[in-house]
Amino acid sequence: MVDPVLKWAGGKRQLLDKLYARFPAKFDRYHEPMFGGGALFFDLEPGAGSINDTNPRLVNFYRQVRDRPDALVDRLDSFADPDSEPDTSRAFADTTRKETGVENYYYQQRELFNRRPNDEPFDSLDEAALLLYLNRTCYNGLYRENQSGEFNVPVGRYANPDWVRRDEIRSAGSVLESTEILNRDLEYIREYAAAGDLVYFDPPYEPMSPTAQFTDYSAEGFGQQDQQRLVELAQQLTQNGVHVVLSNSGIMAEMYDDAGFYVDIEGATRSINSDADNRDEVDEIIATNVAPTDRGDREHIELGNH
Ligand SMILES: C[S@@+](CC[C@H](N)C(=O)[O-])C[C@H]1O[C@@H](n2cnc3c(N)ncnc32)[C@H](O)[C@@H]1O
Repeated sequence: MVDPVLKWAGGKRQLLDKLYARFPAKFDRYHEPMFGGGALFFDLEPGAGSINDTNPRLVNFYRQVRDRPDALVDRLDSFADPDSEPDTSRAFADTTRKETGVENYYYQQRELFNRRPNDEPFDSLDEAALLLYLNRTCYNGLYRENQSGEFNVPVGRYANPDWVRRDEIRSAGSVLESTEILNRDLEYIREYAAAGDLVYFDPPYEPMSPTAQFTDYSAEGFGQQDQQRLVELAQQLTQNGVHVVLSNSGIMAEMYDDAGFYVDIEGATRSINSDADNRDEVDEIIATNVAPTDRGDREHIELGNH
């Protein structure tokens, strides 16, 4: 059981036991095509399999965690407190790309992180370190991009921000050792998963009300057509003998029921932002093709590759 390295919207830590309760007693490889913070993956610590996300900077981050954990920790160690003066030896010490003043080190780091969406040369290790730094020092640990793909969350207030995460990076790096890390659309899994594998999908939730903003994960978003193609993909995987477990918002219950899945409304509510505003609370469903008689209990789940 390893802690996720990043805070991520839709983190599944509260739902873990309920997800495990739907797992098949035995499966081969494990895949998470919409990875985000990967709370279930890190808790499970599977062996071979794949993780995927459409966010290229998130994917680069996990590749660096797996391939260069010590260099990543060293880079993070070299960063300063978000409230300190900008570093005059680095770019964006005094002005942003838009020629306005950089108030402090945090905003300098944010400009440096936004090199990729501005088509400027960037270093992959540096970008990964900046992602974790911003995740630990920005307002509420949010990840939000503007229309141009620039990360635009303001600085947060923390008494003692800790952005190095040495132990979490090392543990996560070893869990990821035999994992394929991909940056594609979730469709890759149609061909990639084999009979006997387990796939867990955690899409950005379809809003319960028009005011909720659950699709605000990245510039791309995940709309109703994407939700529809996810149902069809899950049906195709079922035909291929792949085990599927999926969480979503309550509004999708009927669709998965009609598509032949076992669906339970968990009744659990959650809020995407910290000010537990009722507007952002949703019923949550878990849908699966694993028949109740084929489920294992958490203590006895056998992973084929262990
Ligand atoms: C709800 S979050 C996953 C949360 C994760 N389970 C956790 O515990 O932190 C959904 C993720 O899906 C990704 N995503 C959105 N559209 C996608 C697509 N078409 N294919 C793959 N991933 C996508 C987003 O970038 C986001 O990281």
